[in-house]
Amino acid sequence: MRLDENLVQPVKTADMHATVAALLTRGKGLLAADESFGTIEKRLKALAIPATDENRRAYRELLATTPGLNDFISGVILFDETIREWTSLGKTIPELLQDEGIIPGIKVDKGAVPMANFPGEKLTQGLDGLRERLAAYHALGARFTKWRAVFTVAEGTPGSPCIEANARLLAIFASLSQEAGLVPIVEPEVLMEGDHPIARSEQIIHVTLSRVFDALLEYRVLLESMILKTGMVLAGSECPEQPGLDVVAERTLRCLASAVPGAVPGIVFLSGGQEAGLATRRLNAICAANHGPWTLTFSFGRALQAPALSLWRGYPENIEEAQEALHERARENSLAVRGLHPPAEQREQFQTSVPKRRQSV
Ligand code: 13P
Repeated sequence: MRLDENLVQPVKTADMHATVAALLTRGKGLLAADESFGTIEKRLKALAIPATDENRRAYRELLATTPGLNDFISGVILFDETIREWTSLGKTIPELLQDEGIIPGIKVDKGAVPMANFPGEKLTQGLDGLRERLAAYHALGARFTKWRAVFTVAEGTPGSPCIEANARLLAIFASLSQEAGLVPIVEPEVLMEGDHPIARSEQIIHVTLSRVFDALLEYRVLLESMILKTGMVLAGSECPEQPGLDVVAERTLRCLASAVPGAVPGIVFLSGGQEAGLATRRLNAICAANHGPWTLTFSFGRALQAPALSLWRGYPENIEEAQEALHERARENSLAVRGLHPPAEQREQFQTSVPKRRQSV
């Protein structure tokens, strides 16, 4: 067998190319609505919304039925519970999304668990039975998948055993996903919690991405049929020296250029706990300065959902307002990926409210 032989069936490759092209439609991005039970419970409880089955279902239905969502959103990442859910409209969530021309995707990892012998480090689990689950998700309408590895920045972490093991897990996930004709979103997330300077984030993201791409190539993953999901290069959230937009853009693009092969068609950013508006302004700065070969866009969870969730608060009478807020966040991020943010009506307020840039480390 030749090493360059394409083992994924041609028809699946063609399907994945079509999915990649649709997900990366210019001016559109992804909505990450794939919070696991624990995470959605945390988000709901933070707003004193009871974390019941019914509230989770109602909230996900609110997101999926937002009028005009497809203006700016090409795909939605779902959680196992949601992809199987029947809505009050008598259709499943994937069916509602497909009706709107939005591609349903699915988180297939089973979460990050503590790594034995490496305090503070985590490995992502979920490979057992994955081949069978992928076939079932395809039948339920999913056309892309996501697997998230998580790296904590602290003294001595992340270490190479953690990076190495997570890179291999991501590569095995991606190869199985492509075998099933599903476009893998490969997500090695370096957390922004900590007081480290931006230079440390850049170095760690560079090392993790480099190792992940080595593993993807070793495991014969088709780079042109996958999407990378990463964080922006930022200073730790507790770092007293927060760099300006241009420094974030420059370091993020430099890091991607040094670690991501040009064959990768698209890179999508997670928001990672940044305030929603700030995530959008940084996205705009990065996309406006991008001369790389990839399409860059967003795959935000909190930075798209937060205003909508706090407006909804579990009350049916707030659904319309919450959906408008989600639509507006999606619109602003759509402008950002085209380097056109802030919208004209916000320009004056933006110019007066943005703190002066500080020199980065
Ligand atoms: P956030 O944008 O809230 O970080 O979520 C994106 C995501 O999918 C994390 O896995």
